[in-house]
Order: sequence, then C-alpha cells, then structure tokens
Amino acid sequence: MKKIAVFTSGGDSPGMNACIRAVVRTGIFRGLEVYGINRGYEGMIEGDIKQMNSHSVSNIIQRGGTILKSARSSEFRTPEGRKKAYESLKALGIEGLIAIGGDGTFTGAKIFYEEYGIPTVGCPGTIDNDIYGTDFTIGFDTAVNTALAAIDKIRDTAAAHDRIFFVEVMGRDAGFIAVECGIGGGAEFVMVPETKTDLDAVVNTLKSHREFRSSSIIVVAEGDELGNANEIMAMVKTKVDNPAKDFKVTTLGHIQRGGAPTARDRVLGSRCGMGAVDGLIAGKAGCMSGVINNEIVYTTFADCIGKSKPIHPDHLALIEILNI
Ligand code: F6P
Repeated sequence: MKKIAVFTSGGDSPGMNACIRAVVRTGIFRGLEVYGINRGYEGMIEGDIKQMNSHSVSNIIQRGGTILKSARSSEFRTPEGRKKAYESLKALGIEGLIAIGGDGTFTGAKIFYEEYGIPTVGCPGTIDNDIYGTDFTIGFDTAVNTALAAIDKIRDTAAAHDRIFFVEVMGRDAGFIAVECGIGGGAEFVMVPETKTDLDAVVNTLKSHREFRSSSIIVVAEGDELGNANEIMAMVKTKVDNPAKDFKVTTLGHIQRGGAPTARDRVLGSRCGMGAVDGLIAGKAGCMSGVINNEIVYTTFADCIGKSKPIHPDHLALIEILNI
C-alpha cells in the first residue's frame, strides 16, 4: 500500500483534527502518501481530494471542527454516487481509506468496501459516544464538559430565582451526554432515549423536593421518547399542583459540537488515527480502530453499527441515588 486518503463525515466532533493530524503524520512516518478528501463522501464523489504533508496538519490539534470539513451525503447512498466516488479514488491510485465519523459514516464505508473492496478503517468521531467497539468516541469528552459548564451556569440562575430548568442536550439516539453531564452537574433527573421516562416519578419527586429545594435541573437528551425539552416541560407543568412555579427550558444545541478539544479527546483522536493507519498497513479492512481498556481494538463495521452500546446501569443508578 502506497497511497491512502482520510476524510471526516457526518456531524463534526472536537478531536477530529487531532485524528486527521495523526493519520497524516503516521502515514508519512510509515512511508505512505496521504491524501485528504474534503467534505466527506460529497468530496469523494466530486474528486475534491488533495495530497497532504506534515505541514498541512500543523497548528490544528487544539482546534475544534475539522479542517477537511464534513457533510452528510445523500448521493453516496445511491449506487451511482458510490461509483463516482470509486472512480475519483481510482484516478488518484488511492489504495486505502480512513473514515472518521459515526454510525452513518461507517454504514457508508461498509457498503463501499463490500462493493469496491478498497480497504477502509474507521475512527470513531462523534460527540454522541454511541459507537460499539470503543469505550469513548472522539469529541464526547469535550461535548460533556461544554454541556457541564453550561449547566453549572444555569444552576446559579436557577437557584437565584427558585426555578425548575429543563436543559436539552444533544443525543438523537443516545443519552451518554445527558447521563454524564447529569451526574457531573448534579441534575435531579436525566431523561434519555435508552430508558422509558416515568413522568409521574419526576412530578412526585419535584413535589417532594419542594419544601427543601427551591430549584431543580432536569437534563433531557434531545432523542427522549417523550419529546423535546419544551414538550416535556409542558407535560410536567400540567401535573404539578403549583403551576405558578417558574419553569424554563434551555436548549444547548450546537455549542456542544464546537470548541477546543479536551486533552482526552486529543489523545483519543491521535491514538485512533495512528491505529487506523497501522491497521491498514497490517491488512485490516472493514473495521474501526477504537480504544477499549486503554488498548487499540479493531471492531468490524458490522458490529460497530449493528451492536448497541448500553449506558452503564451504575450511571443511571447514581442519578437516582444522588437525588435523594
Ligand atoms: O451525531 C451527532 C449529533 O450532534 C447528534 O447528537 C445530533 O442529533 C445531530 O448530530 C445533529 O445533527 P445536525 O448538525 O446535522 O443537525
């Protein structure tokens, strides 16, 4: 293998740049030519690909976002789109791919590898942490800390005004961000897609807390089965017997996706990037380079996207126990 290409796809996450940097520099260190594909599968289809050198990735390890840009490509979902992508890669003689992204990225990579056989190794880049085959995904730690910093600030104003705040965090299909910043931020409740939200329990606890707690924080993952934070707040409001109580909603949104990556995300991104290049050189394909128990582990794309990663039951128990 002489030429490999790297791209980022799907929602960006802090630490993707550290991962790109590690891919480029490990590749060069091991004697490969490394190319960067802009805007994920869109750029692959359009042939928006350029050779990178060590200097191309200077001064990016501390930056959020992705220097290669990202996109969600509908054309790549079609056989015609994937054929165009293959032709772009073939024209440049690319013999291996490194895909940095989440489950949508790996779904595309799996199909493409099965159809065209270009060896591909993934790196888990998503703030959601919902990828099987790695303890943590690149960007999760930064997103949790961003959300936590916001919750700490909300707690100040919630306490000052005796308010109940519903704070919506990202996580369309997964509640990892909600659970971690719920524990770290001392939330009264956390609502996540993985568990059935018991609204009556929430209402009863809010009522029982009323005498000695003037304010409360409830963290809602955006994918909770009961709806978004505004909808859930409206339901709770009709059930408490003091509707005059001040309820507020704060949706944190895309601030969770940006910002300088934490040390953990820079190190994880760097390790996964190096693992992906070394995996390709060793003949691995159709799999992701993740970190489990502090070791690089390769997991097939089929398992990464097919198996679910549960929230640790201790984490859910902690929220309930620490809320007495
Ligand atoms: O997958 C990461 C994620 O940030 C999810 O938590 C969120 O639901 C989604 O992306 C938002 O995507 P977009 O930026 O395309 O609206």
